[in-house]
Amino acid sequence: MTHTVPGILADASFLQLKTFVLRQTGLAYFADKDTDFAARLARRMKALDVASCGSYFARLRHPLEGPEEMERLIGELTIGETYFFRQVEHFDLLRTRILPEILDRKAASRTLSIWSAGSATGAEAYSLSMLLKTEFAGRLEDWSVSITATDLNVDFLAAAREGVYTKWALRSLPPHLMLCCFDQDGAQFQIRPQYKQDVYFSYHNLADEETFDRVPRAPFDLIVCRNVMIYFSPEQNHRLVRNFHGLLQPGGWLIVGHAEYGGSMFPDYETVHTDAAVVFRKPLHDSAAMMFHPPVPLDLAPVPPPESSPPPPPAAQVPTARALADRGEWDAAEQVCRQRLQSDPLDCEAHFTLGLILEHRGADDEAIKEMRSTIYLDRGFALGYYHLGMLLRRAGDASGSRKAFRNLERILSRKEPSEVVEHGDGIQTHELLELARMHQAALA
Ligand SMILES: C[S@@+](CC[C@H](N)C(=O)[O-])C[C@H]1O[C@@H](n2cnc3c(N)ncnc32)[C@H](O)[C@@H]1O
Repeated sequence: MTHTVPGILADASFLQLKTFVLRQTGLAYFADKDTDFAARLARRMKALDVASCGSYFARLRHPLEGPEEMERLIGELTIGETYFFRQVEHFDLLRTRILPEILDRKAASRTLSIWSAGSATGAEAYSLSMLLKTEFAGRLEDWSVSITATDLNVDFLAAAREGVYTKWALRSLPPHLMLCCFDQDGAQFQIRPQYKQDVYFSYHNLADEETFDRVPRAPFDLIVCRNVMIYFSPEQNHRLVRNFHGLLQPGGWLIVGHAEYGGSMFPDYETVHTDAAVVFRKPLHDSAAMMFHPPVPLDLAPVPPPESSPPPPPAAQVPTARALADRGEWDAAEQVCRQRLQSDPLDCEAHFTLGLILEHRGADDEAIKEMRSTIYLDRGFALGYYHLGMLLRRAGDASGSRKAFRNLERILSRKEPSEVVEHGDGIQTHELLELARMHQAALA
């Protein structure tokens, strides 16, 4: 019997089975986590009393029983952590800039179509619905509004359609929204029908390129795909971002999670930087026109200049390097960092930005050196530890990686959970802590 993890790991068909499943689901997250994958697989093999990976593989490919078993296995493999108004800065940006811009532009057609891709149990899609109905009800009267929410896990979709949550999923919800949008029944909170009205849940596999032309209610004015791409490979994310582009209206917006973007991934989009987040936009005009449009800086709440403005800091080039990198201008970005480091070798931010650039280029050994420099220069520099942990893991140095994530956890646990992490494009302490713990668990 190979229901045990060591038995499964020793099974000659294990790797073939795993490769098949990862290709079907896109869950490259498990590529270097055989033990974790085997533990989840063991639960399905035990439930079916299947003795070998070969027999289980045959079951998965069975024309009649295969699809249902794949759903059950996906149920074991997917991670559905979600909550209402997660990464609230995205919702602030939607409220203050993105939705007003879309509603102005679409005033003639009076249609609004949104896609929450990888919606888990629905908190993201319902948060969007709540935002529209509480902040934009007047402007959206007589509009045709749809929020398409898709996921790979059919159990998550069933739970999402029910719309019943515990208080934990509502932990970031402003109290007035909790009162107006939910009916409480003991420890359970049922979302009210008016907030479910325009939300449509359906199955869609983001790893299956051939099904993108079947996503309902496309093209979209806004696609939100957060905390999903973290489980996919860089190649797959490139394809995904390209497929999203094909399904966006000209001028449509794409929001991904904080840890999920690198400059080169969005060549066909405008990168929009704000203080709180980086988001992406399909240009309104064709790509030739786009060449002449630099990334759109969003002028959020204007900040009055201080009484006597201090002179600009000498490190002013480094944010430029970040902006260049975000636009995919890697050579220029690297040059700016290296120049900066020549004049000030102790500039932590320049080391960090250079590390990110080298990481993007696959020059992992050099990137590791730069990340180590950031930590040497600033023992509390959380993102230096995070990237070092990721790079060491990729280099096969599990103990070094574990140490980096442990240090990261130590630094973060001293901060307020909602504190925004320095240079983290808006990621909050508790979110980075969650990632640090996830990586440590995976390395265990
Ligand atoms: C951590 S949850 C994120 C939920 C939500 N977007 C949020 O940020 O709160 C990740 C979701 O992605 C889904 N997922 C993973 N692989 C997928 C795929 N290939 N296609 C569609 N959804 C996928 C999982 O089932 C899970 O519900």
